[in-house]
Amino acid sequence: MLTIAVSKGRIYKDSMPLLAAAGIEPLEDPDVSRKLIIPTSRDDVRLVIIRATDVPTYVEHGAADLGIAGKDVLMESDADSLYEPLDLNIACCRLMTALPVEPVERHGRLRVATKYLKTARKFYAKKGIQAEIIKLYGSMELAPLVGLADCIVDVVDTGNTLKANGLYADELIAQISSRMVVNQASMKLKYSAINELLDKVAGACQQSVA
Ligand code: ATP
Ligand code: PRP
Repeated sequence: MLTIAVSKGRIYKDSMPLLAAAGIEPLEDPDVSRKLIIPTSRDDVRLVIIRATDVPTYVEHGAADLGIAGKDVLMESDADSLYEPLDLNIACCRLMTALPVEPVERHGRLRVATKYLKTARKFYAKKGIQAEIIKLYGSMELAPLVGLADCIVDVVDTGNTLKANGLYADELIAQISSRMVVNQASMKLKYSAINELLDKVAGACQQSVA
């Protein structure tokens, strides 16, 4: 049995056509069913539906053999033993700093609101800027508007959310897309099944890029 960890929402929506190329089609819709383990059209493959940020943890511990996660989540994760064999080129965006269009006077250290603690720390340290990183779990764009932070680090796609909140994208930290990740032991023990799946999904990715 192969277990694939995937999150609901945009990654699920964009990755299902790719998995279909490997003959994997979910038998239930996770948005309708409350089930967290979803059987597929292949008896030997099932999906587990989890939070995007939990995908690396499930795969690192072998609770899932494979997972699909954004590079932003992987950069932030402590799971450092994962194989990352495939860029799926889905859920593409940019991890950026963003500032208020109307500058606000700053006192003391730069305050940065983000859910990307590790990445933000690294980014500002590399620039030699002493920043106070404020951990949030979402709606980062609000923080500079209410005086919680001077700027934010978040993912940007169209830029509409920044614009709607009087912010602009400043520095690029990383280009982001979703990756297929694989547990190390699974890669050895289930090599042929995983390799076959990766080949078929990679073929589907190339077709969708072409
Ligand atoms: P969690 O539910 O664990 O907080 P999340 O809300 O970030 O995670 P999603 O919004 O489904 O989960 O995003 C999943 C991934 O999609 C992100 O990790 C990122 O790689 C990418 N992503 C996020 N926002 C966008 C966007 N606006 N456009 C394109 N891709 C995005
Ligand atoms: C993400 C991100 C930004 C927005 C950027 O939020 O946190 O707020 O997308 O996209 P844009 O540049 O196209 O406006 P998302 O829609 O995933 O909401 P969530 O973080 O609350 O889940």
